Amino acid sequence: MAPSATDILPTVSNGTNGFAHIKKYKDRSNLVPFASRLKDGRALAQDVWSIFNAVNLPSDCINLGQGYMNFPPPQWVKDAAGEALATTATNHYSHPKGRLRLREAIKKVYGPLLGRDLDVENEIQVTSGANEGTLYSVFTAFLEPGDEVIMFEPFFDQYLPSVVFNGGVPVYVPLHPDLSGERPTSDDWKIDFDELARAITPRTKMIIVNTPHNPVGKVFTREELEKIAALAEQHNLIVMSDEVYDFLVFDNKEHVRIATLPGMWDRTVTVGSAGKLFSATGWRVGWLIAPASIIRPTLAACTRIVFCSNSPLQEAAAVGLEQIEERGYLAQTVKEYDERRLTLTSAFDKLGMTYSHPEGSYFVLLDISSVHWPENYPFPESLQGRGRDFNRACWFIAMEVGVSSIPVSEFYCEEHCSIGESYARFAFCKDVDTLKQAAERLQNLKRFLR
Ligand SMILES: Cc1ncc(COP(=O)(O)O)c(C=O)c1O
Repeated sequence: MAPSATDILPTVSNGTNGFAHIKKYKDRSNLVPFASRLKDGRALAQDVWSIFNAVNLPSDCINLGQGYMNFPPPQWVKDAAGEALATTATNHYSHPKGRLRLREAIKKVYGPLLGRDLDVENEIQVTSGANEGTLYSVFTAFLEPGDEVIMFEPFFDQYLPSVVFNGGVPVYVPLHPDLSGERPTSDDWKIDFDELARAITPRTKMIIVNTPHNPVGKVFTREELEKIAALAEQHNLIVMSDEVYDFLVFDNKEHVRIATLPGMWDRTVTVGSAGKLFSATGWRVGWLIAPASIIRPTLAACTRIVFCSNSPLQEAAAVGLEQIEERGYLAQTVKEYDERRLTLTSAFDKLGMTYSHPEGSYFVLLDISSVHWPENYPFPESLQGRGRDFNRACWFIAMEVGVSSIPVSEFYCEEHCSIGESYARFAFCKDVDTLKQAAERLQNLKRFLR
Protein backbone atom coordinates (compact mmCIF):
# COMPACT_ATOMS: atom_id res chain seq x y z
CA MET A 1 0.00 0.00 0.00
CA ALA A 2 1.11 3.55 -0.65
CA PRO A 3 1.80 5.59 2.53
CA SER A 4 -1.19 7.54 3.84
CA ALA A 5 -1.22 11.19 4.99
CA THR A 6 -0.86 10.08 8.60
CA ASP A 7 2.42 8.36 7.73
CA ILE A 8 3.95 11.73 6.91
CA LEU A 9 5.57 13.63 9.73
CA PRO A 10 6.80 17.20 9.62
CA THR A 11 10.56 17.49 9.80
CA VAL A 12 12.40 19.92 12.00
CA SER A 13 13.30 23.02 10.08
CA ASN A 14 15.54 25.87 11.20
CA GLY A 15 12.69 28.28 10.51
CA THR A 16 14.87 30.60 8.50
CA ASN A 17 15.97 28.88 5.37
CA GLY A 18 12.62 27.97 3.90
CA PHE A 19 13.03 24.20 4.41
CA ALA A 20 9.90 23.90 6.53
CA HIS A 21 8.01 22.34 3.62
CA ILE A 22 10.31 19.32 3.63
CA LYS A 23 8.44 16.31 4.89
CA LYS A 24 9.85 13.03 6.01
CA TYR A 25 8.19 9.65 5.69
CA LYS A 26 7.99 7.62 8.88
CA ASP A 27 8.86 4.50 6.93
CA ARG A 28 10.38 4.75 3.46
CA SER A 29 11.01 1.04 3.04
CA ASN A 30 7.99 0.44 0.81
CA LEU A 31 7.22 3.79 -0.78
CA VAL A 32 6.08 2.27 -4.03
CA PRO A 33 3.92 -0.81 -3.60
CA PHE A 34 5.12 -3.95 -5.34
CA ALA A 35 2.93 -5.94 -7.69
CA SER A 36 0.32 -8.14 -6.09
CA ARG A 37 1.40 -11.05 -8.29
CA LEU A 38 4.36 -11.58 -5.97
CA LYS A 39 1.97 -12.27 -3.13
CA ASP A 40 -0.49 -14.29 -5.21
CA GLY A 41 2.38 -16.40 -6.51
CA ARG A 42 3.57 -17.04 -2.94
CA ALA A 43 6.88 -15.50 -4.00
CA LEU A 44 7.26 -13.48 -0.81
CA ALA A 45 5.97 -15.97 1.73
CA GLN A 46 8.54 -17.22 4.17
CA ASP A 47 8.83 -20.55 2.51
CA VAL A 48 10.12 -23.84 3.67
CA TRP A 49 13.47 -23.26 1.93
CA SER A 50 14.25 -20.25 4.06
CA ILE A 51 13.13 -21.95 7.27
CA PHE A 52 15.20 -25.05 6.55
CA ASN A 53 18.10 -22.99 5.24
CA ALA A 54 21.56 -24.06 6.39
CA VAL A 55 21.97 -20.84 8.37
CA ASN A 56 19.10 -21.84 10.69
CA LEU A 57 20.35 -25.38 11.23
CA PRO A 58 23.35 -26.80 13.12
CA SER A 59 26.51 -25.94 11.18
CA ASP A 60 27.39 -29.60 10.56
CA CYS A 61 23.86 -30.60 9.55
CA ILE A 62 23.84 -32.79 6.43
CA ASN A 63 21.53 -31.12 3.95
CA LEU A 64 19.34 -33.73 2.30
CA GLY A 65 16.51 -31.20 2.11
CA GLN A 66 17.59 -29.29 -0.94
CA GLY A 67 18.03 -31.10 -4.22
CA TYR A 68 21.47 -29.85 -5.21
CA MET A 69 24.41 -32.14 -5.85
CA ASN A 70 27.56 -31.99 -3.76
CA PHE A 71 29.69 -33.47 -6.53
CA PRO A 72 31.05 -31.83 -9.69
CA PRO A 73 30.06 -32.26 -13.33
CA PRO A 74 32.03 -34.93 -15.25
CA GLN A 75 35.58 -33.86 -16.06
CA TRP A 76 35.13 -34.04 -19.84
CA VAL A 77 32.12 -31.70 -19.64
CA LYS A 78 34.04 -29.29 -17.39
CA ASP A 79 36.96 -29.37 -19.82
CA ALA A 80 34.58 -28.44 -22.63
CA ALA A 81 33.37 -25.49 -20.54
CA GLY A 82 36.96 -24.35 -20.06
CA GLU A 83 37.64 -24.58 -23.78
CA ALA A 84 34.49 -22.64 -24.59
CA LEU A 85 35.53 -19.88 -22.17
CA ALA A 86 38.89 -19.70 -23.89
CA THR A 87 37.30 -19.23 -27.31
CA THR A 88 36.12 -15.78 -28.37
CA ALA A 89 32.95 -16.69 -30.27
CA THR A 90 31.52 -18.78 -27.47
CA ASN A 91 31.76 -15.88 -25.03
CA HIS A 92 29.25 -13.83 -26.96
CA TYR A 93 25.53 -13.84 -27.61
CA SER A 94 24.03 -17.03 -28.90
CA HIS A 95 21.07 -17.15 -31.22
CA PRO A 96 17.94 -16.94 -29.02
CA LYS A 97 17.04 -20.45 -30.22
CA GLY A 98 20.30 -21.65 -28.65
CA ARG A 99 23.68 -22.49 -30.11
CA LEU A 100 23.33 -24.62 -33.19
CA ARG A 101 25.87 -27.14 -31.87
CA LEU A 102 23.70 -27.73 -28.80
CA ARG A 103 20.50 -27.98 -30.82
CA GLU A 104 22.21 -30.54 -33.07
CA ALA A 105 23.36 -32.51 -30.03
CA ILE A 106 19.83 -32.44 -28.55
CA LYS A 107 18.49 -33.71 -31.86
CA LYS A 108 21.05 -36.54 -31.88
CA VAL A 109 20.14 -37.74 -28.39
CA TYR A 110 16.42 -36.98 -28.19
CA GLY A 111 15.35 -37.55 -31.80
CA PRO A 112 15.53 -41.36 -31.47
CA LEU A 113 13.92 -41.24 -28.00
CA LEU A 114 11.00 -39.30 -29.41
CA GLY A 115 10.96 -41.29 -32.65
CA ARG A 116 11.34 -38.13 -34.75
CA ASP A 117 13.81 -36.49 -37.07
CA LEU A 118 13.81 -33.26 -35.06
CA ASP A 119 14.05 -29.95 -36.93
CA VAL A 120 16.77 -27.97 -35.12
CA GLU A 121 15.47 -24.67 -36.50
CA ASN A 122 11.87 -25.02 -35.41
CA GLU A 123 11.43 -27.79 -32.86
CA ILE A 124 14.17 -27.21 -30.28
CA GLN A 125 14.57 -24.22 -27.97
CA VAL A 126 17.51 -23.81 -25.60
CA THR A 127 16.55 -22.09 -22.35
CA SER A 128 18.22 -20.75 -19.22
CA GLY A 129 17.61 -23.94 -17.29
CA ALA A 130 14.35 -25.84 -17.34
CA ASN A 131 12.98 -23.23 -14.97
CA GLU A 132 13.04 -20.44 -17.50
CA GLY A 133 11.94 -22.71 -20.33
CA THR A 134 9.30 -24.75 -18.59
CA LEU A 135 8.06 -22.39 -16.16
CA TYR A 136 8.22 -19.07 -17.69
CA SER A 137 8.52 -18.81 -21.43
CA VAL A 138 5.84 -21.36 -22.26
CA PHE A 139 3.41 -19.77 -19.80
CA THR A 140 4.23 -16.30 -21.14
CA ALA A 141 3.66 -17.56 -24.65
CA PHE A 142 0.36 -19.35 -24.05
CA LEU A 143 -1.54 -18.12 -21.01
CA GLU A 144 -4.26 -15.50 -21.22
CA PRO A 145 -5.39 -13.96 -17.90
CA GLY A 146 -7.60 -16.47 -16.11
CA ASP A 147 -6.43 -19.52 -18.05
CA GLU A 148 -6.18 -22.55 -15.81
CA VAL A 149 -3.15 -24.81 -15.49
CA ILE A 150 -3.51 -28.23 -13.89
CA MET A 151 -0.65 -29.49 -11.75
CA PHE A 152 -0.39 -32.70 -9.79
CA GLU A 153 0.37 -32.36 -6.11
CA PRO A 154 2.87 -32.52 -4.59
CA PHE A 155 4.29 -30.17 -7.26
CA PHE A 156 7.69 -28.66 -7.98
CA ASP A 157 7.32 -25.33 -6.23
CA GLN A 158 8.38 -23.10 -9.15
CA TYR A 159 5.26 -24.00 -11.13
CA LEU A 160 2.96 -21.94 -8.95
CA PRO A 161 4.63 -18.50 -9.15
CA SER A 162 5.40 -18.93 -12.83
CA VAL A 163 1.77 -19.66 -13.66
CA VAL A 164 0.51 -16.82 -11.48
CA PHE A 165 3.06 -14.25 -12.74
CA ASN A 166 1.75 -14.94 -16.22
CA GLY A 167 -1.88 -14.42 -15.30
CA GLY A 168 -2.72 -18.12 -15.03
CA VAL A 169 -4.74 -19.85 -12.34
CA PRO A 170 -3.24 -23.00 -10.80
CA VAL A 171 -5.63 -25.93 -10.39
CA TYR A 172 -4.38 -28.68 -8.13
CA VAL A 173 -5.01 -32.39 -8.52
CA PRO A 174 -3.39 -34.48 -5.76
CA LEU A 175 -1.60 -37.77 -6.16
CA HIS A 176 -3.06 -40.06 -3.48
CA PRO A 177 -0.60 -42.20 -1.51
CA ASP A 178 -1.46 -45.68 -0.31
CA LEU A 179 1.65 -46.99 1.38
CA SER A 180 -0.07 -49.72 3.35
CA GLY A 181 1.49 -52.55 1.28
CA GLU A 182 4.50 -54.67 2.18
CA ARG A 183 7.06 -52.65 0.21
CA PRO A 184 5.48 -49.43 -0.99
CA THR A 185 6.92 -47.66 -4.01
CA SER A 186 6.49 -44.31 -5.70
CA ASP A 187 3.99 -46.07 -7.95
CA ASP A 188 1.65 -46.24 -4.94
CA TRP A 189 0.94 -42.53 -5.41
CA LYS A 190 -2.08 -42.65 -7.69
CA ILE A 191 -4.07 -40.26 -9.82
CA ASP A 192 -7.83 -40.30 -9.30
CA PHE A 193 -8.87 -39.87 -12.94
CA ASP A 194 -12.42 -38.83 -12.05
CA GLU A 195 -10.95 -36.09 -9.91
CA LEU A 196 -8.66 -35.07 -12.78
CA ALA A 197 -11.57 -34.99 -15.24
CA ARG A 198 -13.60 -32.86 -12.79
CA ALA A 199 -10.74 -30.38 -12.49
CA ILE A 200 -10.90 -29.58 -16.21
CA THR A 201 -13.06 -26.58 -17.12
CA PRO A 202 -13.56 -24.53 -20.30
CA ARG A 203 -10.73 -22.29 -18.99
CA THR A 204 -8.19 -25.11 -18.72
CA LYS A 205 -5.31 -24.46 -21.10
CA MET A 206 -2.50 -26.67 -19.92
CA ILE A 207 -1.60 -29.64 -17.80
CA ILE A 208 1.83 -30.14 -16.27
CA VAL A 209 3.11 -33.70 -16.07
CA ASN A 210 6.38 -34.25 -14.25
CA THR A 211 7.86 -37.68 -14.80
CA PRO A 212 10.05 -38.91 -13.15
CA HIS A 213 8.50 -36.88 -10.41
CA ASN A 214 9.87 -34.44 -7.86
CA PRO A 215 9.29 -35.05 -4.95
CA VAL A 216 7.53 -38.44 -5.18
CA GLY A 217 10.02 -40.26 -7.45
CA LYS A 218 7.05 -41.59 -9.39
CA VAL A 219 7.59 -42.68 -12.99
CA PHE A 220 4.21 -42.27 -14.63
CA THR A 221 3.04 -45.47 -16.28
CA ARG A 222 2.11 -45.75 -19.93
CA GLU A 223 -1.49 -46.36 -18.89
CA GLU A 224 -1.58 -43.22 -16.74
CA LEU A 225 -0.04 -41.13 -19.51
CA GLU A 226 -2.50 -42.54 -22.05
CA LYS A 227 -5.39 -41.47 -19.84
CA ILE A 228 -3.90 -37.99 -19.41
CA ALA A 229 -3.33 -37.84 -23.17
CA ALA A 230 -6.95 -38.75 -23.85
CA LEU A 231 -8.13 -35.89 -21.62
CA ALA A 232 -5.68 -33.48 -23.25
CA GLU A 233 -6.98 -34.48 -26.65
CA GLN A 234 -10.63 -34.24 -25.58
CA HIS A 235 -10.22 -30.76 -24.06
CA ASN A 236 -7.56 -29.41 -26.42
CA LEU A 237 -4.88 -28.87 -23.77
CA ILE A 238 -1.14 -28.29 -24.04
CA VAL A 239 0.83 -30.85 -22.06
CA MET A 240 3.96 -29.55 -20.43
CA SER A 241 5.99 -32.67 -19.83
CA ASP A 242 8.70 -31.83 -17.34
CA GLU A 243 11.20 -34.67 -17.83
CA VAL A 244 14.30 -33.15 -16.25
CA TYR A 245 14.96 -36.45 -14.45
CA ASP A 246 14.41 -38.61 -17.55
CA PHE A 247 17.91 -40.13 -17.21
CA LEU A 248 17.20 -41.35 -13.66
CA VAL A 249 14.85 -44.30 -13.85
CA PHE A 250 15.56 -47.37 -11.73
CA ASP A 251 14.45 -50.99 -11.40
CA ASN A 252 13.98 -51.44 -15.18
CA LYS A 253 10.99 -49.15 -15.05
CA GLU A 254 10.05 -47.71 -18.45
CA HIS A 255 10.23 -43.93 -18.89
CA VAL A 256 7.40 -43.16 -21.29
CA ARG A 257 7.53 -39.83 -23.09
CA ILE A 258 3.98 -38.56 -23.44
CA ALA A 259 4.99 -36.80 -26.68
CA THR A 260 5.40 -40.25 -28.27
CA LEU A 261 1.79 -41.32 -27.63
CA PRO A 262 -0.55 -41.16 -30.63
CA GLY A 263 -1.47 -37.57 -31.48
CA MET A 264 0.46 -36.12 -28.57
CA TRP A 265 3.48 -34.65 -30.37
CA ASP A 266 1.33 -31.77 -31.61
CA ARG A 267 0.30 -30.64 -28.13
CA THR A 268 3.30 -31.56 -25.96
CA VAL A 269 6.33 -29.60 -24.91
CA THR A 270 9.06 -31.83 -23.47
CA VAL A 271 11.43 -30.20 -21.01
CA GLY A 272 15.05 -31.20 -20.32
CA SER A 273 17.88 -29.87 -18.17
CA ALA A 274 21.66 -30.02 -18.68
CA GLY A 275 21.94 -29.00 -15.03
CA LYS A 276 20.30 -32.20 -13.85
CA LEU A 277 21.86 -34.41 -16.51
CA PHE A 278 25.46 -33.25 -16.02
CA SER A 279 25.35 -32.31 -12.31
CA ALA A 280 25.73 -28.67 -13.25
CA THR A 281 22.60 -27.01 -11.88
CA GLY A 282 24.30 -23.61 -11.65
CA TRP A 283 25.03 -23.55 -15.36
CA ARG A 284 21.39 -22.75 -16.16
CA VAL A 285 21.11 -24.59 -19.44
CA GLY A 286 17.92 -26.43 -20.37
CA TRP A 287 15.82 -27.12 -23.44
CA LEU A 288 12.35 -27.55 -24.82
CA ILE A 289 11.39 -29.92 -27.60
CA ALA A 290 8.02 -29.38 -29.25
CA PRO A 291 6.34 -28.78 -32.59
CA ALA A 292 6.98 -25.45 -34.31
CA SER A 293 3.51 -24.26 -33.27
CA ILE A 294 4.67 -24.34 -29.63
CA ILE A 295 8.34 -23.39 -30.12
CA ARG A 296 7.67 -20.30 -32.26
CA PRO A 297 5.66 -18.33 -29.64
CA THR A 298 7.90 -19.67 -26.87
CA LEU A 299 10.99 -18.44 -28.72
CA ALA A 300 9.38 -14.99 -28.96
CA ALA A 301 8.84 -15.02 -25.17
CA CYS A 302 12.35 -16.37 -24.42
CA THR A 303 13.91 -13.70 -26.60
CA ARG A 304 12.25 -10.96 -24.55
CA ILE A 305 12.89 -12.60 -21.17
CA VAL A 306 16.58 -13.56 -21.37
CA PHE A 307 17.39 -13.00 -25.07
CA CYS A 308 19.64 -16.04 -25.02
CA SER A 309 21.05 -18.54 -22.57
CA ASN A 310 24.73 -18.29 -21.59
CA SER A 311 26.91 -19.32 -24.51
CA PRO A 312 30.00 -21.13 -23.14
CA LEU A 313 28.02 -23.52 -21.01
CA GLN A 314 25.66 -24.30 -23.88
CA GLU A 315 28.77 -25.37 -25.75
CA ALA A 316 29.85 -27.59 -22.85
CA ALA A 317 26.35 -29.12 -22.65
CA ALA A 318 26.58 -29.82 -26.38
CA VAL A 319 29.85 -31.71 -25.90
CA GLY A 320 28.26 -33.58 -22.99
CA LEU A 321 25.37 -34.76 -25.15
CA GLU A 322 27.58 -35.52 -28.17
CA GLN A 323 29.69 -37.93 -26.10
CA ILE A 324 27.01 -39.31 -23.82
CA GLU A 325 26.74 -42.61 -25.61
CA GLU A 326 30.38 -43.41 -26.36
CA ARG A 327 31.26 -42.74 -22.73
CA GLY A 328 28.43 -44.92 -21.39
CA TYR A 329 27.51 -41.93 -19.25
CA LEU A 330 23.83 -42.72 -18.68
CA ALA A 331 24.35 -46.31 -17.52
CA GLN A 332 27.16 -45.16 -15.21
CA THR A 333 25.04 -42.31 -13.80
CA VAL A 334 22.08 -44.59 -13.05
CA LYS A 335 24.44 -47.05 -11.35
CA GLU A 336 25.90 -44.33 -9.15
CA TYR A 337 22.49 -42.95 -8.21
CA ASP A 338 21.25 -46.46 -7.52
CA GLU A 339 24.00 -46.88 -4.95
CA ARG A 340 23.12 -43.51 -3.41
CA ARG A 341 19.45 -44.50 -3.28
CA LEU A 342 20.31 -47.79 -1.58
CA THR A 343 22.58 -46.12 0.97
CA LEU A 344 19.75 -43.88 2.12
CA THR A 345 16.86 -46.31 1.94
CA SER A 346 18.87 -48.95 3.85
CA ALA A 347 19.01 -46.48 6.74
CA PHE A 348 15.21 -46.23 6.73
CA ASP A 349 14.90 -50.03 6.46
CA LYS A 350 17.18 -50.42 9.46
CA LEU A 351 14.98 -48.02 11.42
CA GLY A 352 11.87 -49.93 10.33
CA MET A 353 10.33 -46.73 8.97
CA THR A 354 7.91 -46.62 6.04
CA TYR A 355 8.95 -44.84 2.86
CA SER A 356 7.94 -45.00 -0.76
CA HIS A 357 10.74 -46.62 -2.72
CA PRO A 358 11.46 -44.14 -5.55
CA GLU A 359 11.50 -45.54 -9.08
CA GLY A 360 12.88 -42.35 -10.57
CA SER A 361 14.50 -38.95 -9.79
CA TYR A 362 16.63 -38.53 -6.66
CA PHE A 363 14.15 -38.09 -3.83
CA VAL A 364 12.76 -40.45 -1.19
CA LEU A 365 9.59 -39.72 0.76
CA LEU A 366 9.78 -40.97 4.34
CA ASP A 367 6.72 -41.37 6.55
CA ILE A 368 7.64 -39.37 9.64
CA SER A 369 4.39 -39.81 11.55
CA SER A 370 6.13 -42.19 13.96
CA VAL A 371 8.65 -39.53 15.08
CA HIS A 372 7.88 -38.05 18.51
CA TRP A 373 9.53 -35.24 20.40
CA PRO A 374 9.37 -33.97 23.99
CA GLU A 375 6.33 -31.81 24.67
CA ASN A 376 8.31 -28.71 25.57
CA TYR A 377 10.73 -28.97 22.65
CA PRO A 378 11.82 -25.41 21.69
CA PHE A 379 10.61 -24.94 18.11
CA PRO A 380 11.33 -21.58 16.46
CA GLU A 381 8.63 -18.95 15.96
CA SER A 382 8.65 -19.51 12.19
CA LEU A 383 7.22 -23.00 12.69
CA GLN A 384 4.64 -22.06 15.30
CA GLY A 385 2.02 -20.67 12.98
CA ARG A 386 2.38 -23.35 10.38
CA GLY A 387 -0.11 -25.66 12.01
CA ARG A 388 1.10 -28.87 10.56
CA ASP A 389 3.15 -30.98 12.92
CA PHE A 390 5.28 -32.38 10.17
CA ASN A 391 7.25 -29.21 9.64
CA ARG A 392 8.17 -29.64 13.27
CA ALA A 393 9.14 -33.26 12.75
CA CYS A 394 11.57 -32.23 10.01
CA TRP A 395 12.96 -29.50 12.21
CA PHE A 396 13.33 -31.89 15.12
CA ILE A 397 15.13 -34.48 12.95
CA ALA A 398 17.51 -31.81 11.63
CA MET A 399 18.31 -30.49 15.11
CA GLU A 400 18.56 -33.83 16.93
CA VAL A 401 20.17 -36.11 14.37
CA GLY A 402 21.79 -33.53 12.08
CA VAL A 403 20.14 -34.46 8.78
CA SER A 404 17.77 -32.00 7.14
CA SER A 405 14.76 -32.84 4.96
CA ILE A 406 11.78 -30.93 3.60
CA PRO A 407 8.17 -31.45 4.72
CA VAL A 408 6.15 -32.55 1.71
CA SER A 409 3.05 -30.63 2.82
CA GLU A 410 4.83 -27.57 1.41
CA PHE A 411 4.27 -28.92 -2.08
CA TYR A 412 0.48 -28.94 -1.71
CA CYS A 413 -2.11 -26.17 -1.64
CA GLU A 414 -3.69 -25.39 1.75
CA GLU A 415 -6.81 -27.37 0.95
CA HIS A 416 -4.93 -30.57 0.13
CA CYS A 417 -1.96 -30.36 2.47
CA SER A 418 -3.21 -33.11 4.76
CA ILE A 419 -2.87 -35.65 1.91
CA GLY A 420 0.91 -35.78 1.96
CA GLU A 421 1.52 -34.24 5.33
CA SER A 422 3.14 -37.19 7.04
CA TYR A 423 6.04 -37.34 4.55
CA ALA A 424 9.44 -35.72 4.46
CA ARG A 425 11.53 -35.45 1.30
CA PHE A 426 15.15 -36.58 1.46
CA ALA A 427 17.35 -35.91 -1.59
CA PHE A 428 20.03 -38.46 -2.44
CA CYS A 429 21.95 -36.39 -5.02
CA LYS A 430 24.97 -36.44 -2.69
CA ASP A 431 28.17 -38.46 -2.73
CA VAL A 432 28.00 -41.88 -1.10
CA ASP A 433 30.25 -40.90 1.82
CA THR A 434 27.90 -38.07 2.76
CA LEU A 435 24.92 -40.38 2.47
CA LYS A 436 26.64 -43.04 4.59
CA GLN A 437 27.28 -40.44 7.25
CA ALA A 438 23.63 -39.31 7.05
CA ALA A 439 22.48 -42.94 7.25
CA GLU A 440 24.53 -43.44 10.39
CA ARG A 441 23.18 -40.29 12.01
CA LEU A 442 19.61 -41.22 11.13
CA GLN A 443 19.91 -44.31 13.33
CA ASN A 444 19.75 -41.91 16.28
CA LEU A 445 16.10 -41.40 15.39
CA LYS A 446 15.33 -44.83 16.85
CA ARG A 447 14.78 -43.51 20.35
CA PHE A 448 12.22 -40.98 19.09
CA LEU A 449 10.08 -43.50 17.20
CA ARG A 450 6.79 -44.78 18.54
C1 LIG B 1 10.70 -31.11 -11.56
C2 LIG B 1 11.70 -30.05 -11.85
N1 LIG B 1 11.57 -29.30 -12.95
C3 LIG B 1 12.45 -28.33 -13.27
C4 LIG B 1 13.52 -28.08 -12.43
C5 LIG B 1 14.46 -26.96 -12.78
O1 LIG B 1 15.53 -27.39 -13.55
P1 LIG B 1 16.69 -26.36 -13.96
O2 LIG B 1 17.68 -26.35 -12.85
O3 LIG B 1 17.24 -26.87 -15.25
O4 LIG B 1 16.03 -25.04 -14.12
C6 LIG B 1 13.69 -28.82 -11.26
C7 LIG B 1 14.80 -28.51 -10.33
O5 LIG B 1 14.79 -28.85 -9.17
C8 LIG B 1 12.76 -29.83 -10.95
O6 LIG B 1 12.87 -30.58 -9.85
